[in-house]
Amino acid sequence: MCGIVGYIGSKKATPFLLEGLTCLEYRGYDSAGIATIEDNKIEVKKDKGRVKNLYDLDGIDSLVGTVGIAHTRWATHGKPSKDNSHPHLDNSGTFSVVHNGIIENHNELRNFLISKGYSFASQTDTEVIPNLIHYYFNNGENIGDNKFLSAVKQAVSDLKGSYAIVVMSPLFKDELIVARKDSPLVIGTSNGENFIASDIPALLSHSKNFYLLDDNEFAVVCKDKIKFYDINLTEHRKGIKNIEWDATETGKNGFEDYMLKEIFEQPNSIRETIGSRLKLGENCYFDDLEISEEFLHNINQIYIVACGTAMHAGLIGKTILENLCKIPTTVEIASEFRYRNPLIDEKTLCIYISQSGETADTIAALKLAKSKGATTIAISNVISSSITREADYSIYTHAGPEIAVASTKAYTSQVVLIAILAIHFAEILNSYEQEKLEALKADILDLPSKIENILADTSKIKNFADKVYTEKDMFFLGRGIDYAVALEGSLKLKEISYIHSEAYAAGELKHGPIALIENNVTVIGIITEPDLVDKTCSNLQEVITRGAKTLIVTNMQLENNCFDFVIDIPEINHLLSPILSVVPLQLLSYYISKNKGLDVDKPRNLAKSVTVE
Ligand code: F6R
Repeated sequence: MCGIVGYIGSKKATPFLLEGLTCLEYRGYDSAGIATIEDNKIEVKKDKGRVKNLYDLDGIDSLVGTVGIAHTRWATHGKPSKDNSHPHLDNSGTFSVVHNGIIENHNELRNFLISKGYSFASQTDTEVIPNLIHYYFNNGENIGDNKFLSAVKQAVSDLKGSYAIVVMSPLFKDELIVARKDSPLVIGTSNGENFIASDIPALLSHSKNFYLLDDNEFAVVCKDKIKFYDINLTEHRKGIKNIEWDATETGKNGFEDYMLKEIFEQPNSIRETIGSRLKLGENCYFDDLEISEEFLHNINQIYIVACGTAMHAGLIGKTILENLCKIPTTVEIASEFRYRNPLIDEKTLCIYISQSGETADTIAALKLAKSKGATTIAISNVISSSITREADYSIYTHAGPEIAVASTKAYTSQVVLIAILAIHFAEILNSYEQEKLEALKADILDLPSKIENILADTSKIKNFADKVYTEKDMFFLGRGIDYAVALEGSLKLKEISYIHSEAYAAGELKHGPIALIENNVTVIGIITEPDLVDKTCSNLQEVITRGAKTLIVTNMQLENNCFDFVIDIPEINHLLSPILSVVPLQLLSYYISKNKGLDVDKPRNLAKSVTVE
């Protein structure tokens, strides 16, 4: 939700700011803007629309300032418009702010500022921040010896909600001030210049050395030094992190879209997820997971908590964990879990799945479980993301940067990682036959080549997409683990092709939704559960009788095949079949979206990282 960048150095800030915004555009893309210091005053260029529009704005080429901040927006308060775009200025034009997050008490603060004579040019929650800074700069106390920092600190003390901010002022043109609470912010450092961004990939071509700002921490960023302060403005030292990611990993590598590239990366991303954790004939191994055997033996229940696609990965994880470890496992949507006072005690294990590691609801749900004494594990793709800093233990998918808003490779890596985790627990608990665990391990090791096999010929899926892309509604059906894949297939279709679609447990259809089935509607069935194949086929027969056309994704030999289209996928242990069966569904939504001429990587109304409630 919103991307922010900042630059301070000796070069022109604008080229870096525009490049940084382009990298961060997946976080929000309904408006964008930049501000630099030019001749002792702040110059702002902003408008609604994509970052690329900024390149054409009048006067953008004349910006030569070496200090600047920029923002790409995902609207929360106030519709996308020039006025609502960031950066925002205070009334006097002395302080400029870019903000990611939500200020929950902005109305109250706005009224306070109006009572002090301030006025507002936008409907955003953010505009209170530069005005509050101005207010405290002139009326506040002086905490420490930096008046600018002192004003920022007093302003953010008034904020309720979440924020990552970068503040710039021509009165202090040799420094930028940053602060965060519950929204991500990183500082990349180099010789004689420093960079600020919402995430690491945006800075990779400029730095490999990062400071990851913590909640309630401030930094004063100059071109050749950075000072860190706690909430009381006591200065402290902070460790630097060296990040090994390669900048080329964040390019499109010859693919037309990031989503397609990421779908095709899945064999490799899964290899990375497996890494050295799983080997035949050896127990699985997690270097950073020192959960005691005693705790594992005493677990009373497992909660898997996540949002969206990550929650769908959790649904597969539940089946695998219950099968292998015999521990009752419940999957919950983070935004529900956090407000429903779940039954948790110190014998509960809570697993949080989040690609970005920055999803606000998932982080809040994690904090809740910790406060009730649970042991928490974070599964994330982003090293040192907020969720991994909160959890007791963190394990990483290592799928590489995922840029397309629709998650693909992160999902398959999440499922693979939970499967390895479940095997690891089962080995400790002795809860599943060793021979079967070995067979499962062999199947996990075979996943990359089986996905390669599926990706080797996508023509059938493409042909089907050509036939159905103009449709208005589609249905996805499956039973057991296939139902979880149906949910994910349906979500992918909705989010990037804007086709209304529903996923149902196949047996549930006749309890109401079958009324929606009419002549020629498309129904997609997933059939990989050996014990349920006949039952699912019968349910599909019921929709065929009512005129539906059917596409089936299966690894079974289907008798009396009466389906219109069948996509065969390789055989595998049914617990792992979602990692294969989802791939044709990812491709289907991709090709439908392309046929409709939509922006696959940046679907409307969405953003990659949901850092607001
Ligand atoms: C869908 C998608 C979202 C995310 C969800 C959680 O393709 O990407 O549903 O899965 O917003 O995001 P993370 O995993 O970053 O917590």
